[in-house]
Amino acid sequence: MGTDRTGEPLRVGVLASGSGTNLQALLDTVHGEEALIVGVAADKPGAVALERARDAGIESAVFPLGEHPDRAARDSAIAQWLLERDVEVVVLAGYMALLTSPFLHRFPGAVLNIHPSLLPAFPGVRAIEQAIDYGVKIFGVTVHFVEDDGGIDTGPVILQGCIELANADDPATVHAQLRPLEHALLPEAVRLIARGALSRDPQNPRRVVVAQ
Ligand code: GRF
Repeated sequence: MGTDRTGEPLRVGVLASGSGTNLQALLDTVHGEEALIVGVAADKPGAVALERARDAGIESAVFPLGEHPDRAARDSAIAQWLLERDVEVVVLAGYMALLTSPFLHRFPGAVLNIHPSLLPAFPGVRAIEQAIDYGVKIFGVTVHFVEDDGGIDTGPVILQGCIELANADDPATVHAQLRPLEHALLPEAVRLIARGALSRDPQNPRRVVVAQ
């Protein structure tokens, strides 16, 4: 990750489960520039993200859990599909299934996720609801690496952003207000990786260092 990359754009595979607005942000910004999105895979046939991929002329595929013996087999099929497309980095853009260890080991240090909270606060599902229920005044977004560490949303932080919302009480409204942050930070993280601008602090590999 920390080595300088020259010439070829970073080959990115995207996994999504839902509306795919983060995928769209990648398509509208880094795709065809520093990065090439070479495949979009979903776990749900109805994921709007698949339509966005098709509209952009990008190969897509669906891997419903019911069509595989178990999660490990499904993940193995997804990994194979991505590797056949020479994917270097996997971006989880609203991918709502947990990935099994063998998948993560096939893309070491090369899986990113976007999460709608300021981690380590409020990991897992319903992050915005958790934050509202807790009564926080600052809401945020985290882009982080996904590692085989046994946790959920526990990987090293790449980028974070936040907004102050003193009286937030509606998750949909908060989510809408966080969207611009998500749509800026995820492409920025991909851009940084493509430029070889990310490295780890050797004293503490949890610390992702961003070259200035
Ligand atoms: C985003 O809020 C992201 O933070 C979370 O899932 C949502 C996906 O949205 N992990 P979209 O499918 O990219 O519109």
